[in-house]
Amino acid sequence: MASAGEGFGRRVQSAIYRSGISGTRPAVPTTPEALELAAEKTLGREAFAYLAGGAGSETTVAANRAAFGNWRIYPRVLRDVGERDLSIELLGKRRATPFLLAPLGVMELAHPDADVAVGRAAAALDVPYLLSNQASRPMEEVAVAMDAVAPGRSRWFQLYWSASDELNASLVRRAEESGCEAIVVTLDTHLLGWRTRDLDLAYLPFTRGQGIAQYTSDPVFAGLVRDRVKKASRGTWAEQSIRVTPKAVATAIRMARNGSNTQVFAGGVAGAIRSPLPRAAVETFLDVFADPTLEWDALAKLREWTSLPIVLKGILHPDDAARALDHGVDGIMVSNHGGRQLDGAVASLDALPAVVDRVAGRVPVILDGGIRGGADAFIALALGATAVGIGRPYAYGLAVAGARGVSEVLRNHIAEFDITMGLAGHTAVAQIGRDSLVPSA
Ligand SMILES: Cc1cc2nc3c(=O)[nH]c(=O)nc-3n(C[C@H](O)[C@H](O)[C@H](O)COP(=O)(O)O)c2cc1C
Repeated sequence: MASAGEGFGRRVQSAIYRSGISGTRPAVPTTPEALELAAEKTLGREAFAYLAGGAGSETTVAANRAAFGNWRIYPRVLRDVGERDLSIELLGKRRATPFLLAPLGVMELAHPDADVAVGRAAAALDVPYLLSNQASRPMEEVAVAMDAVAPGRSRWFQLYWSASDELNASLVRRAEESGCEAIVVTLDTHLLGWRTRDLDLAYLPFTRGQGIAQYTSDPVFAGLVRDRVKKASRGTWAEQSIRVTPKAVATAIRMARNGSNTQVFAGGVAGAIRSPLPRAAVETFLDVFADPTLEWDALAKLREWTSLPIVLKGILHPDDAARALDHGVDGIMVSNHGGRQLDGAVASLDALPAVVDRVAGRVPVILDGGIRGGADAFIALALGATAVGIGRPYAYGLAVAGARGVSEVLRNHIAEFDITMGLAGHTAVAQIGRDSLVPSA
């Protein structure tokens, strides 16, 4: 991204209005509702349900958005805001903007280029990308794609702590080797949430071989799959491998294509269709995914596996934030998984101030959940967040226009944030504080 001092927001606005003169409109709508609708039109039912849906009655999905409505920005006038600096300090580095891309799994649902397209857009706009443990492409492939756009652009790895510590350690090692700057452990998915839209469609992408590329590209996971096949009675596996239903074929094809360095099976699509391994990979994944018995002391193991900063994602209660600090973590993400896990959970923005107060500046506090534009980011920063994560909107941009769609979504968030900051009377992120807001009546 070019220096914000030149006025990123104004440049984006001017470019959009100028192309309007020759009849060109943005590929991606700037209003969040229109963006979601545009994505829905391009997506199949199952894909849209998975991306947009939440847990239960989706009260927490709604609360995440409604929480922003409890605050109004209190602008100040007649201050020179001609030069605005959007940068922040985060995990020991200056970042161009206060935005991150939250980890989103199964991006192949939105676009065949999936995480690779997202990585390219993130790298181009210098927005750190949190690579999902449930990605559709192996992290190594995304790292190469990002470096091809701009070498060394920031990526972090999001870990779901599986039941196999050997696998956890392997994923962390690969993340280090792929140039990830931090490990983000997501703590709110030790059980899969009660996702009503997906349940009604009897659809879970992982069972179709979608969103498990970090696993099938992993040597330790490949070993677990082979052990499973060996242990199963020969008859059972032979029987299963010849029951070639259309869904099973589709799963095998998808898995053979996902990830150029798939460790689980060689032999391409033809080999995958005949082999019991793809199905065994899905079963193995379902066995190891998440560990509901996990407790705080597990974090010591992660410290042994890596010297990278550790960020905990899914903290909402200030007492948990305090425990995280006791365990020496380097950052906290206040998040309820976009309302996809515990329906009825507190909105992440509502949980933010108490966490910020308890953390008292010792580590960065990142917020995600309901960020739909630059004004939302401003409100979260004013309540003490160091940075904010964009979630669903970039998946919708990806669905609408691939990598370009993701770029436009990011660009629009940054541009609106720049303009919001200027209109509110601020020239630097550090000036945004609780006195920049007033509770809405
Ligand atoms: C389709 C989808 C997939 C997601 N996958 C992951 C994931 O793999 N890991 C993770 O930690 N969070 C995941 N999340 C949660 C996001 O990281 C983030 O917390 C959430 O999207 C924020 O809410 P918002 O999208 O409504 O802004 C996912 C969210 C969505 C919508």
